Amino acid sequence: MSQVLELSDVTVRRGGTEILSHVSWQVSRGQRWVIMGANGAGKTTLMQVCSGYMHPTSGQASILGYQVGKTDMRELRTLVGISSAAVAALLPASETVFDSVQTAAYGITGRWRERYDEVDRSRAHELISAWGLLTLANRRIGNLSEGERKRVSIARALMCDPELLILDEPAAGLDVGGREDLVARLAILAGDQASPSLVLVTHHVEEIPPNFTHALLIKSGQICAMGEVPEVISSEPMSQAFDMPLVVEYSDGRWYAQGKSPSRGRRAKD
Ligand SMILES: Nc1ncnc2c1ncn2[C@@H]1O[C@H](COP(=O)(O)OP(=O)(O)O)[C@@H](O)[C@H]1O
Ligand SMILES: [Mg+2]
Repeated sequence: MSQVLELSDVTVRRGGTEILSHVSWQVSRGQRWVIMGANGAGKTTLMQVCSGYMHPTSGQASILGYQVGKTDMRELRTLVGISSAAVAALLPASETVFDSVQTAAYGITGRWRERYDEVDRSRAHELISAWGLLTLANRRIGNLSEGERKRVSIARALMCDPELLILDEPAAGLDVGGREDLVARLAILAGDQASPSLVLVTHHVEEIPPNFTHALLIKSGQICAMGEVPEVISSEPMSQAFDMPLVVEYSDGRWYAQGKSPSRGRRAKD
């Protein structure tokens, strides 16, 4: 197979608006990408194209060698794992954590009468354990904290053993403890050679886990920078992407950003 993702001049128009404009981007096997951009920049739309849920208005998108629009996208559903607010909202509140993860083996939400074999049960158990959910296995989804629900959604996305895992803002709404826990788990996932190729959407550089290799910045539906993390997650491209002067710093495996004070050329206090 060629690339994990291959987008060539992809444009998406909705209601007369161009949400993505001429996006060309490639993801190779094993790469770990961070996608950043302001609210409304087009990140979620880009992820919908990359998971086969949205067709480009023009241009071409291939996912794991399958061309979007020319393939039965159901085939792709088990090869691409996706965790997003929209997917998490589909999880039935009355279902247990264990069942929520296990049902992903069939690409469904909500248990019905499907039968699971030992392989499914042991994989669900392994993922629940890896994502710190073992003590919550019998808890109902409706009774989980935001951070716990996010971890269920990621474990679910991994259940099919996908070749590509897309995480759309997994740290949104978490407190600092929940965020740090998630970043540490994502760093382990990204550092594991056996993990799928990863694409992580985030708003904050503080949420970029160690071991991520590449970054793409998007602004008003257009790519404004892409490449290896240290080149892209730096003051100049980030200032351009977020339309304000930013100082981006790196320390001990993590990134930090602050607004630059225009008066003194130093960092603002808040
Ligand atoms: N179906 C749609 N019709 C019209 N505009 C849309 C539609 N979906 C998204 N948009 C608009 O496209 C822009 C990009 O949205 P989105 O991809 O969700 O951005 P992000 O995830 O970066 O915040 C936003 O301005 C949003 O309002
Ligand atoms: Mg979004």
